[in-house]
Amino acid sequence: MEKKKMLTGFRPTGKLHLGHLHGNIKNMIEHQKEHENYFFLVDWHALSTEYKDPKNIKSNLIDCVIDLIALGIDPEITHLYRQSDIPEIAELCLYLSMITPLPWLERCPTYKEQQKELKAKDLSTLGFLSYPVLMASDILIVNADIIPVGEDQLPHLEITREIARRFNYLYGDYFIEPQELLSQATRVPGTDGRKMSKSYGNAIFLSDDYETVKEKVRSMITDPKRIKLKDPGHPEVCNIFTFYKIYENERIEEIENRCRNAEIGCTKCKAELAEIIYNSLKVFQSKRKELEKDLSVIYKILDKGKQEVKAEADKTIKDVRKKIGID
Ligand code: TRP
Repeated sequence: MEKKKMLTGFRPTGKLHLGHLHGNIKNMIEHQKEHENYFFLVDWHALSTEYKDPKNIKSNLIDCVIDLIALGIDPEITHLYRQSDIPEIAELCLYLSMITPLPWLERCPTYKEQQKELKAKDLSTLGFLSYPVLMASDILIVNADIIPVGEDQLPHLEITREIARRFNYLYGDYFIEPQELLSQATRVPGTDGRKMSKSYGNAIFLSDDYETVKEKVRSMITDPKRIKLKDPGHPEVCNIFTFYKIYENERIEEIENRCRNAEIGCTKCKAELAEIIYNSLKVFQSKRKELEKDLSVIYKILDKGKQEVKAEADKTIKDVRKKIGID
């Protein structure tokens, strides 16, 4: 039986943090062998918000690729590539934009939310409005089946399916409707309890050294009602406990009880967590150092991915032109 196609894109925002790891990448790595994988860095999507100052996009992209390989994405079995290396995606985006009604894009919740969040940037551009059309093109260019994403991306996936349906209705069946693969630990809190995000300044990066991890964990807010060591704790409101659930779920009862019964102080509990997190990053960090030594290897991997996907993208574009009748 032919393997299903699993595809996901990453915004090249620089070094990855724990939010990325537990939100999406882990999913991808775990299912790597079962599927045909398409894993790519979306530099055009990055441009939709960074168009005024795009100079970091390329170096961020390389940093991101190094992180992914160091984490265990295997370029031998995964197509690892750069969105801008596949111009067929842009051509497909053009055709799809012809058939996408504006209201679908205007009512997309991420459109308004992001404009509000990123107030400093002028995002009333055509490119930003059509972000979901470009994402649909990323997916449909290879007719991918499974899309591992975080919850925030679900509206985009819905639009992708709507566009695919509309294309099929207008020009005859061609695209399949992709399905999401939601990750289990979707929401990783940052050091301030909000969602972990580089732009909030609350992230623990995969490349942080032990001292930095210790300091970041130390700064996290625990149970505000727990003032003295003898006060019983309330793990359900504690940020540290959320991390324990991600990292030490198999002994979570013991961790919960030692807090509720005030058997351990927050300082010690945090120090232990910092060590657990850092230990989980050690292997990754030494692999990363190794990879950084010779960037030509990274460029070769991206080139290989480009060759592999280009052939497929080319076929899709030829079929699409034929379907529309401008071949
Ligand atoms: N929009 C996604 C994000 O911000 C990135 C992305 C672009 C993507 N194209 C994609 C994800 C295609 C999955 C499939 O995270």
